[in-house]
Amino acid sequence: MLQQLTRPVKNTIKSLVQKSGYQITKVDTLDIEPLIGSSFTPSAVPAGAREYLRGDHPRLQDLRRRYAALNHPVAAHSHWTTSFVNDNVELLNFRGDNAYLWQVRQSRGDAEMRYFANTLYIERIDHRRLLPALVEDGAFGCHTFQYQGRHGMSRDLLDSINEIYFLDRQIGLFDRPDLRVLDIGAGYGRLAHRMCEALPNLKSYVCVDAVPESTFLAEYYLKHRGLPESRASAVALDELHKLEAMPQFDVAVNIHSFTECNYEAIRWWLNMVSKLNIRWLLIAPNKGPLGAEHDLFSIESDRSRKDFMNLLEEAGYKQELRAPKFDDPHLQIGIPRFADTYYHLFQKVA
Ligand SMILES: C[S@@+](CC[C@H](N)C(=O)[O-])C[C@H]1O[C@@H](n2cnc3c(N)ncnc32)[C@H](O)[C@@H]1O
Repeated sequence: MLQQLTRPVKNTIKSLVQKSGYQITKVDTLDIEPLIGSSFTPSAVPAGAREYLRGDHPRLQDLRRRYAALNHPVAAHSHWTTSFVNDNVELLNFRGDNAYLWQVRQSRGDAEMRYFANTLYIERIDHRRLLPALVEDGAFGCHTFQYQGRHGMSRDLLDSINEIYFLDRQIGLFDRPDLRVLDIGAGYGRLAHRMCEALPNLKSYVCVDAVPESTFLAEYYLKHRGLPESRASAVALDELHKLEAMPQFDVAVNIHSFTECNYEAIRWWLNMVSKLNIRWLLIAPNKGPLGAEHDLFSIESDRSRKDFMNLLEEAGYKQELRAPKFDDPHLQIGIPRFADTYYHLFQKVA
């Protein structure tokens, strides 16, 4: 399997394996299988899911109608149009390799090794032992990789732990009593679920989104994971006024979402975050059109892009840090597409 990889990927894996205290030796291909095995075994569809996760479900129809009637700047989609959602979101397999989270499509047959390198990296930073504690059950089509001595690994799990540790290093996430998080463009509630599992001090995690299918899935998923609404909830786009009545949020997060919105939508969300006086803001953009150094770009209806850094300044936010997702140059460079993200941390100053 190692022979099929490009040199940077091979070097990355070698470096991570060595840093983890192991030595790589040549073995017969057959011998490596118990160590590196992939699996994408679709897990059983949870009870009631087929009945609920349908395009004609009354709750989804209600959200669609309400969002369409809003004439709201954030609901004028340049990327997440109705046809994009129809083509890219399969309700029953919403944790599959789709528009919410690319999982295997960017791999050239080497997904097992890339996930293995990612797993080794997270194990190296995992001083709170989150990886063994947070389980991946592969539900709703999630691609899951199995490596010897570990439970299943997925991008949902690995990315979420990485994001949690980044915020912990910068703003002491675990040390904040009654932590409150607002997630803009929260998708199906991936990070909401993982933060609830990982952080006993998390008081409230609120998901907002401008796509009715995302709100519908987040509502469903958080309930499916047994999270009480008082701790993890999705607030519909026409009910955002409810946020004003909530206790102060500590941090707002936006993971791979602003870069899929147009400029005016980003402006609106940033003004909202500013009005709510949220001190910390984490943005994890998609890779920028001009390379890794320039990644805070909107996407407009004509597919053009606009740098939105000035909107952050306009909303009173100053950049504190821009850090690679993987604090390891081999991994950041060696696993392109999988790891081309930078975390941007902003603090409110005005
Ligand atoms: C790539 S997904 C990321 C989901 C989630 N943040 C995660 O990392 O798992 C992009 C998200 O942005 C949301 N989105 C698209 N357009 C939006 C807009 N104008 N305002 C807010 N969210 C939007 C989509 O509904 C989707 O949930």
